Amino acid sequence: MSFDTPAILGDLSPAALRASGSMKWSMYPEHINGHETIPCFVAEMDFAPAGNIRRALKHWAEHAPLGYRPPGLVQNFQQVIAEHYRDLGLTVDHDAIRPISDVMTAYDAVARIFTAPGTPITLLTPAYMNFIQHIFEDQRPVRNVSMLAPDALHQQWRIDWERLEQALADGGLLVLVNPHNPIGKVYNRTELEQIAELARQYNVRVFADEIHEPLVFDGHSHVPFASVSATAAECAITAWSCTKGFSVPGAKAACLIFTRDGDQRRWQEFGQHFEMGTASSGYVATISALKDGSEWFRVAMDQLEQNRKQLTQLVDTYLPGAVYTPPEATYLAWIDLRSTPNYEAVVADVPQRYSLAEATAQRCGVIATDGAATGDVGEGHLRINFATGPEILDMIIDRLGSVFSRQNSGP
Ligand SMILES: Cc1ncc(COP(=O)(O)O)c(C=O)c1O
Repeated sequence: MSFDTPAILGDLSPAALRASGSMKWSMYPEHINGHETIPCFVAEMDFAPAGNIRRALKHWAEHAPLGYRPPGLVQNFQQVIAEHYRDLGLTVDHDAIRPISDVMTAYDAVARIFTAPGTPITLLTPAYMNFIQHIFEDQRPVRNVSMLAPDALHQQWRIDWERLEQALADGGLLVLVNPHNPIGKVYNRTELEQIAELARQYNVRVFADEIHEPLVFDGHSHVPFASVSATAAECAITAWSCTKGFSVPGAKAACLIFTRDGDQRRWQEFGQHFEMGTASSGYVATISALKDGSEWFRVAMDQLEQNRKQLTQLVDTYLPGAVYTPPEATYLAWIDLRSTPNYEAVVADVPQRYSLAEATAQRCGVIATDGAATGDVGEGHLRINFATGPEILDMIIDRLGSVFSRQNSGP
């Protein structure tokens, strides 16, 4: 098998990545229980960032005054995002795009400013772990609605509409992550319209987290929730950043997009201070990504597509019994291990204090995200980040196979 990768994505060998000092490759020790560690947990790419973004940041660091964010830079940021969303089918005035440091801060701010204390928050699970872990001090009840997994009759993940309606009946906030981390689902127009109808009926606001928007594979396309109908625009508050698509989450700038009359005014009154929490580096990176990043992005997506296909083969070869449906978007693979030959034995042997992911790390050095952290429905699953080199991907699945599918897997 050839492990050649395009030079523009940098050196993707384990040694080079470890030496890079990235959070992903430096957070855990080099060895766990005698196994060399291979991290595939956090959602950042191992690919070298786009050269144009690096150059833009360098130029900014060398020439800009490094004071508070200049209005011209903010406006440029709003403008490029407005153009980007217009191309996706949502037309908004650039001023309706409000900067904020990151999407999780946006979530916290939106829930507090746009929904009443004590109203419920509904998550579609498995959900991005930080939504599960995030606790509001006003004790908002969190309702998890499990997605229906692909089965013999359905190729795609589906919403359990009955359960969703029950959860939304008391109003509050629905978190709609589209594309959906960790299952990689891209919601279609009909589903989005139906969600908007329910939201209207029960007076629910929808936090449309579209951070994974750029990472959509062939055959699928991202439809912004707020664009599907006037009803959707009324209930939506959209959050977006380029940080997943271009792997620059440390640059720190995201945005909220307001599409309901009055929301912007409310934001000016109660949320504007959040805008000061952004870093100019985030604006510079976003502008450069959207204006000049297309070549890097195309190469990155080609590599992700290749990895996505490779993963199917690797799971078939090394990890029999595992269920893996290739994602429609994102570089996250959601792997169900419950039917692997050793699953029961591995779980029986997991000490109380360990999660399945920790037990896996102990047994083979692969550091994945634990499915249970995405809600109860995620138990027995691991989330694997495949935005890495093919050689590493090969090692990850081979090692998982040694734990879950082959005989004689000791701790
Ligand atoms: C769906 C989703 N939302 C939000 C975040 C966090 O984004 P930020 O770093 O902008 O807070 C992530 C990070 O992986 C994510 O996958």
